[in-house]
Amino acid sequence: MSDFLWGVATGAHQTEGNNLAADWWEFEHAPGTPIAEPSGDAVDAYHRWPGDMDLAAAAGFTDYRFGIEWSRIEPADGEVSLAAIEHYRRMIDGAVGRGLRPFITLHHFTLPGWFGRAGGWLSPDAAARFLRYVEAISPVLAGVAHVGTINEPNIVAMFAATAGSGMSALREGLPLPDPRVTDVLIDVHHAARTQLKDAHPTIAVGWGVSVQDCQAEPGSEDVLNLYTRPRDEVFLQASTGDDWVGVQTYTRIRISLVGGEPVELDDDTTRKTMNGWEFYPEALGGALRRTARIVGDVPIIVTENGIATTDDQERIEFTGRALQSMRAAIDDGVRVDGYLHWSLLDNYEWGSYAATFGLVAVDRATFERTPHPSLNWLGRQNPTVTHPDAPVHSSTTTTVLKET
Ligand code: BGC
Repeated sequence: MSDFLWGVATGAHQTEGNNLAADWWEFEHAPGTPIAEPSGDAVDAYHRWPGDMDLAAAAGFTDYRFGIEWSRIEPADGEVSLAAIEHYRRMIDGAVGRGLRPFITLHHFTLPGWFGRAGGWLSPDAAARFLRYVEAISPVLAGVAHVGTINEPNIVAMFAATAGSGMSALREGLPLPDPRVTDVLIDVHHAARTQLKDAHPTIAVGWGVSVQDCQAEPGSEDVLNLYTRPRDEVFLQASTGDDWVGVQTYTRIRISLVGGEPVELDDDTTRKTMNGWEFYPEALGGALRRTARIVGDVPIIVTENGIATTDDQERIEFTGRALQSMRAAIDDGVRVDGYLHWSLLDNYEWGSYAATFGLVAVDRATFERTPHPSLNWLGRQNPTVTHPDAPVHSSTTTTVLKET
């Protein structure tokens, strides 16, 4: 198998269903919650993961990103569920058995409810409690290729700064992250990395940061880093010493200077994806180039990139152009070690099922999976594999990574 990661990404709470002990579950059901729709059964991936992995492997992917849900491992403070640990052991073995390298996320936005009620990341023993969870699941990680400690720590710190608003607080522009939570997450990441590497020296440890293509409007160049430094750069800088850093890119953010402050430009005239972000596939290349300037020689993996759309041809157009921009960055010397598409499945988009990111559609009533053409199309874009029978698309995107 090639060293280049070619995969699809999912998240635990967004796919498993019935994460009853998670803080997000409580948030979804709290009186007056801003959440439009609770996660409920999600797409029942807790039970249907074998079929999901079959789809990924059959399409030609070699890497499968999925999460371990802390609130299932430790539903009450100090009470570890051995059955839940066994569940994730079966998933990891199941991936390996299908020729998929497991790429594990330890924390993807959701925390155990008890941890949240105790103060979450700002509780005095937050780090110790997270490390206790990492220790509990450590035995099943033997043989895992990649572990990401905290998904999008910058977004986690933004959630903390806008407590109780969920994703809705991020729709009007990315707020400043809570600086205390930023510091805690960086410390926790480093401590978890040490703990994981001590137990499993061969696991490649890192974390995936939300990195959009931030572009300065003319005249605002000098303030661009006022915007980016707290929102992603400090997290990327904290990747020094990691085995990889994940870049998670969906769009471009245009920054203009208003009253001495950097603000996001609201441009109604641009093409939008179904969740309102600018349709700008080339953001991936821009984000990779900016990240490379910050992280130096830490290898980059695209740990998320994708589009919410009801039109699969639009998904293929977006992804093909994104891959071309990645290819151009690689040709210019940016070290990229892999690409994981968000997402294999339609899933719970933090408050609603409306935005469909899946290469595979999911019927919400029956959980039936229906692959879109983009699933096999993307599986066959693997730059390190030649598919003599690869279908020829009229789009220019099919050979995007094969022109070596
Ligand atoms: C998150 C995913 C989310 C995706 C699309 C990332 O912020 O890691 O959980 O579904 O973006 O919004």
